[in-house]
This record gives sequence, structure tokens and C-alpha cells, in this order.
Amino acid sequence: MVIIEPSILSADFARLGEGVKEAEEAGASVIQIDVMDGRFVPNINFGPGVVSALRPLTKMKLDVHLMIVEPEKYIEAFVKAGADRIIVHQEACLHLHRVLQSIRELGIESGVTLNPATSENSIEYVLDLADFVQVMGVNPGFGGQRFIESQLDKIRAIKQMLNNRGLDVPIGIDGGVDTETAPLIVEAGASVLVAGSSVYNSKGTVSENMQALLNSIQ
Ligand code: DX5
Repeated sequence: MVIIEPSILSADFARLGEGVKEAEEAGASVIQIDVMDGRFVPNINFGPGVVSALRPLTKMKLDVHLMIVEPEKYIEAFVKAGADRIIVHQEACLHLHRVLQSIRELGIESGVTLNPATSENSIEYVLDLADFVQVMGVNPGFGGQRFIESQLDKIRAIKQMLNNRGLDVPIGIDGGVDTETAPLIVEAGASVLVAGSSVYNSKGTVSENMQALLNSIQ
């Protein structure tokens, strides 16, 4: 089953709570909260305080995507704030194996994500520690960018790696998901479409936009 996971990076920051509720009312079961530190990515936005502010507003799974250096320093704070899953960048972790272990030891789901230039081989020894594998469809930092087509091959390769190991781990794509790219991404083997600007935009309501994405992959 394919799910749409809205990303709040493209929501109206002046009414973030409403944006989260709109996603839940539109049927989303998980929402991605993009955390940026201005060092790992050239943008700055949320911290644990925003996660704890949003936590009581929704029953959705809060999926915290840490686009920060030294993510291991902040995992406990985001768990305390109410994160249900924490996704770390392979490129940001000196000891990725230990970081993923520590996320699971805190009782929540672990996720690992790769930038467009990073090979899937870099995570072959941690696939058993990941509850979610996310492929970046864009260079992280901003919403509304164009999908990088080469990432379709990476999705296929990761799918094969997981199958070879008998691991039933969902693969997500984050960045550049729209009604044109969604069918290609799903055909390549992803089952989670993390979508920001194609969900939160002026063309339609969150519900209409999510439905348009689902229709595109029927
Ligand atoms: C980019 C973020 C993505 C982004 C997706 O750095 O990680 O989650 O919000 O935005 P769109 O869907 O607009 O490409």
C-alpha cells in the first residue's frame, strides 16, 4: 500500500497547527517534520519545541527528519518532544550504526536517509537497524525543487538489497514528489511519498492535493 506523507516544510508557518490538522483530516497517518540547522543544509527552521507544540494536536505519527549535523546530540530531545520516528542522514553520522541503535533503544522507530549523491551501499550494514529508508529526491534544504530522476535507480537498488535480506522495510522518497513523478517513484519500489509543495499549495486544499497524488498512482 502506498501512503502520502505530507511534509510541513511547505505548510504556512503562521498556522502550522492548522496545517497539521488539515493533513490528518485529509487522511494522512504520518507527517514529516523537517528539522534544519543551517549547517547540514543551507536553511534553518524547527527544533524540539515545535514538535512538542504539535504533539497534542494530532494522533498522526510524527516523523522527524533531522537535516542537522551531529543528530545524535538531539535524538533524546526529539523523543521527549513526542517524535514517533527519527530519520537521520547517513552523511551526518560518524557512527551511523550506533545512532540507529540508540534511536530504537529510546523506543521509537528509526529511519535513515541518503542525499542524491550518496550510494545505497553506504547503508548496507545498517538495513537491519532501520524501520524506514528514505531516498532524497532533491538536495535537502528547500521544498518545491525538481525531482532528480537518477534516484529512481537508487530506490530499485535499495528494494533489491532489502529483498535479498528478507527485510520488509518501507522505502520513502522525500523531495520532488508530484503527480508526474509519483507513478515513476512507486513503480521503482517506494511505498511512502513524502510531499511538501504538492500537498501544501494554493492550487487546492490539502485534501484535494493529497487525493490528486493518490489518483496519479492508481
Ligand atoms: C527538503 C525536505 C523535503 C521537502 C519536500 O529538504 O526534506 O521534505 O519538504 O518538499 P517538496 O515535496 O516540495 O519537494
